[in-house]
Amino acid sequence: MTANELRRLYIEFFKTKDHSEISGASLIPQNDPTVLFTTAGMHPLVPYLLGEKHPSGTRLVNVQRCIRTGDIDDVGDFSHLTFFEMLGNWSLGEYFKEGSIRMSWEFLTSRDWLAIPPEKLAVTCFAGDEDVPRDEESATVWKSLGIPEQRIFFLGREENWWGPAGETGPCGPDTEIYVDTGIAGTADSRPGVSDGKWMEIWNNVFMEYNRLADGTYARLGRTCVDTGMGIERTITILQGRKSVYETELFTPVIAHIERVTGTSYGSDRSTDVSIRIISDHVRTAAHVIGDEAGVLPSNVGAGYILRRLIRRAVRHGRKLGLSEPFLAPIAETVIGMYESVYPALGSKRGEVISELTAEEERFLTTLRRGEHEFEKLLPNLERNPARVIPGRVAFRLYDTYGFPIEITEELAGEHGMTVDRQGFDEAYRKHQDTSKADTGTFRGGLADHTEMTTRLHTATHLLHKALREVLGDHVAQKGSNITQERLRFDFTHPEKMSPDELKQVEQIVNRQIERDLPVDYTEMTLEDARTNGAIALFGEKYDEVVKVYSIGDFSREVCGGPHVGSTAELGTFRIVKEQSSSQGVRRIKAVLES
Ligand code: ALA
Repeated sequence: MTANELRRLYIEFFKTKDHSEISGASLIPQNDPTVLFTTAGMHPLVPYLLGEKHPSGTRLVNVQRCIRTGDIDDVGDFSHLTFFEMLGNWSLGEYFKEGSIRMSWEFLTSRDWLAIPPEKLAVTCFAGDEDVPRDEESATVWKSLGIPEQRIFFLGREENWWGPAGETGPCGPDTEIYVDTGIAGTADSRPGVSDGKWMEIWNNVFMEYNRLADGTYARLGRTCVDTGMGIERTITILQGRKSVYETELFTPVIAHIERVTGTSYGSDRSTDVSIRIISDHVRTAAHVIGDEAGVLPSNVGAGYILRRLIRRAVRHGRKLGLSEPFLAPIAETVIGMYESVYPALGSKRGEVISELTAEEERFLTTLRRGEHEFEKLLPNLERNPARVIPGRVAFRLYDTYGFPIEITEELAGEHGMTVDRQGFDEAYRKHQDTSKADTGTFRGGLADHTEMTTRLHTATHLLHKALREVLGDHVAQKGSNITQERLRFDFTHPEKMSPDELKQVEQIVNRQIERDLPVDYTEMTLEDARTNGAIALFGEKYDEVVKVYSIGDFSREVCGGPHVGSTAELGTFRIVKEQSSSQGVRRIKAVLES
């Protein structure tokens, strides 16, 4: 079974169970200040899990591309990836534990669907703690379906509790489904022990709680189910492979790397790890740049993660003996594999290739310069009898020449030296404390939909429309990010805005605020929304029912909300900055003042 077939079967199965298929969201979250990437299928659905009505109903199913970089150091083993596709089904106040587990069981084991032998499955359930009781209910359902007690494991919060995605939001105990890979494993093999024997493929979360800002848990008004099944891992099992890298989602990429490096996958562990890391990171980078709301390498936020992934791939290429740019043809292979499923990737092929290559060249230049500096320092460093490169020297190489600490360590090793890593880390931390502190966003998670962010969200719609009035209809949203303090809006426009244009935009927005326009939504198909002149951003499905928010007669936009009731609640809109975001994309930061 291929990934394409699995995607199709999953959606089909849940449609037979009355689920509506909804589109996956952009990999770059819109209007969410606290996460850099979409990390799970539930992410774009948080408002609905918290009680808002979803226009497509109470049973939903989709495929969501996800990025998780928290486990980046595990990439290179047999199953961890920074980019993956998650199949998900949701119940918004409908079926709960029993219904969800029964459906999973049927899809996994029925001959009409995946036909996985039941004796290969094991599950975990929440063991309970002082706040929430042990999940006997799920275990009882599993037992009734035929999973013997010895293959039902009760684990704690670390393992069997999901969410909230950030500090606050929907969360609850989960039950995880594992498959025996046939790999021998260790003496204490069990689900949750990463020795290769048990691979988690599906997680069913029973959302009963809303974690509040003060750290307490409130019961949700209605219970919900949020599930996620990893496509890469599941086809690994279905194809009887030992790792995700042996499936059709990776073999063409790996063959390509073998060809250009003259290595052979499977012959040496450290070579394999490098090949896996390159495959994973290039795949992720291609999807990030080629997303509908794609970002480019930079020094902040998602662009910074992207830069790190690309540079890490380049470093592993060097380990395999590559000193010239090599990423673009690998990305071509990735695009070829996915463009029929994610058309934006195909249409942005040129951009993906040129941006990857440019970043790779920049990094290679950095490396050459850093190596040159290192050579210059070498005679002095070699005089140190302990053969340790001081942390501050390594930090200077990093800070002034962008030379990664790992490369300094690599070069040091080649000369029989080590690096004072602790000293480096201290210098790094000191520097971080005094410069940008972007750390909040790295924790991941969703913001509370507080009053201020809601107001800024409505202001973003006004700004978007005003920009189109002043600059023209070529203005298209490329990204939106809202914090408690400000909104940030990226949009296509070829040149810097003049002070006069900025003033006009501000005036138009403030005029709409003064008009005290009502903010309302109606539900319609995307096709009708387009016919009605609503601004629609991403690749929603044509016949999908969407919410269209209108602000009086001024703006109409496809959007999930939330928004204020009337524009008079907004105060005074002020643009604080207009700058370049990337080639052909401008960025506005604006605030609301009372
Ligand atoms: N949101 C759950 C997960 O990502 C399903 O595992």
